[in-house]
Amino acid sequence: MTGLLFYGAGTLPALAGDADAGKDVFKQECSECHSPREGKNKKGPSLFGIVGRNAGSIGDYNYSDALKNAKWVWTEDKLHWYLSQPAKQANPGTKMKYPGLDNAKQLDDLISYLQSNH
Ligand code: HEC
Repeated sequence: MTGLLFYGAGTLPALAGDADAGKDVFKQECSECHSPREGKNKKGPSLFGIVGRNAGSIGDYNYSDALKNAKWVWTEDKLHWYLSQPAKQANPGTKMKYPGLDNAKQLDDLISYLQSNH
């Protein structure tokens, strides 16, 4: 038993978030403007399958030029960078009004939740 516990703890990736907790963070921080459901756009585009998606690529959502012209893919690292600061600083000209999430644990949990939402 002890060996198993030790083994388990030792193999946890440093940034492993808790997707269940992240779902609550999403509800609090993002759901006013985003749905996690496929094809459902609100003020912002659907975030279904966001990890691995090209920026500004939902066909029926009316993006700002700033996000339409963004050339990156939404990896976990990119989301980390983007969501930890004001959106308008990360992507000048974006219409996403979000001041950034400065709680590192909540951010890891949130990104684990987004990663699990495919
Ligand atoms: C007040 C509304 C609002 C809130 C709150 C908000 N967003 Fe957004 N978000 C937007 C809008 C509007 C866009 C589209 C921006 C554009 O076109 O410039 C967007 C775009 C995005 C994109 C780019 C999507 C794509 O298809 O490229 C990601 C990723 C994103 N938001 C994640 C989040 C997450 C995660 C949260 C919560 C931590 C959040 N947003 C909170 C309004 C919001």
